[in-house]
Amino acid sequence: MTTVVAASPELRLAKRMARLGTETAFEVLVKARALEAEGRDIVHLEIGEPDFDTPGNIIEAGSDALHKGFTHYGPSAGMPQLREAIAQYVSTTRGVSVSPEEVVIVPGGKPIIFFSILALIQDGDEVIYPNPGFPIYESMIDFVGGKAVPIQLREEMDFRLDLEELKGLINDRTRLLILNSPQNPTGGVLTQQDLEEIARAVGDRDIMVLTDEIYSRLIFEGEHHSIMSLTGMKERCILLDGFSKTYAMTGWRMGYGVMRPDLATHIARLMTNSNSCTASFTQVAGVEALRGPQESVDEMCAEFKKRRDVMVGGLNQIKGFSCLSPKGAFYVFPNIKQTGWRSKKLADALLDEAGVAALSGTAFGDFGEGYLRFSVANSIENIEKALDRVGAWVQKNL
Ligand SMILES: Cc1ncc(COP(=O)(O)O)c(C=O)c1O
Repeated sequence: MTTVVAASPELRLAKRMARLGTETAFEVLVKARALEAEGRDIVHLEIGEPDFDTPGNIIEAGSDALHKGFTHYGPSAGMPQLREAIAQYVSTTRGVSVSPEEVVIVPGGKPIIFFSILALIQDGDEVIYPNPGFPIYESMIDFVGGKAVPIQLREEMDFRLDLEELKGLINDRTRLLILNSPQNPTGGVLTQQDLEEIARAVGDRDIMVLTDEIYSRLIFEGEHHSIMSLTGMKERCILLDGFSKTYAMTGWRMGYGVMRPDLATHIARLMTNSNSCTASFTQVAGVEALRGPQESVDEMCAEFKKRRDVMVGGLNQIKGFSCLSPKGAFYVFPNIKQTGWRSKKLADALLDEAGVAALSGTAFGDFGEGYLRFSVANSIENIEKALDRVGAWVQKNL
């Protein structure tokens, strides 16, 4: 028989694919699941999602919407009733006046990172981002050909930004500053004074601020502050928030950005080109999430706080570990420098040998070396089990 085409042609990826990063949590989850399939018992402290179920009233609203025919395409920027509810919610919580045209609803918070960077950054533009930080920032900046400029979050500053360092990093090529508070992975929270100084450092330069506030309702001490609330900042800000963490809706895929209307139009165009729209019935559930009872959010936050205390207290008893008490989100970020182990090697050993899945601090950037991230989105019973296992492993190996 004559060969017409080669059976397996060479895969020629676009060069930009070499610059795309990843989120290690998903890889560690796969590895942990593979170990479980071999019969191992693993405590999962790697993935960043609430272990609670979505509150019943939200599930009802979503399933009711399916029965009522919300099964069709909707507008790319989101359904008017949810844009309206989000505008009201953000106006109240951030103390600024937001209109529905300034809201774009997307499938999860992540696409706001992707679309904002895609819309604003071109070759050589500089983006300042927190490191250690959510890995998707650096991945997307590199992917679009921007220059990723890390600002180190230091333990001795409670993992907040060093304002002098920030001032030194801002220059004429800076186009975007990314903030994240409460922060993943450190649990650090920016104070009102920090935000005022950051706003002053940005001044009237041509710099946008992507303020990732996906953990805004998971705060353990004091209250959440947004840079968007400061006079003159609203027009410079893209606020990222969503439903995943606040209402335990990670699998529903729904988040939003709030930004000036002229930018919102372009972000909606990116939606038209990629997803068409966010699923309609989930948006109906989103209205219920924002307008319905909020007790479950407070209960979840109180539970995370209890678990944080157990985890931090336990880690501080383990030789070589020292851990600050995070002020928000649901992660703890212990310093493991005294163990003498590199972060990745220690995380791998804890999974393979102790059956505890955690992430290396380096999964969040180079400045995460010397740290591990444990998620406390697991029961106190399992957190105690993990602490016992890590303690026993350390005793045997260090
Ligand atoms: C800081 C930060 N931003 C954004 C996201 C994305 O959230 P979503 O699942 O809604 O896309 C996450 C998820 O872990 C996060 O930690």
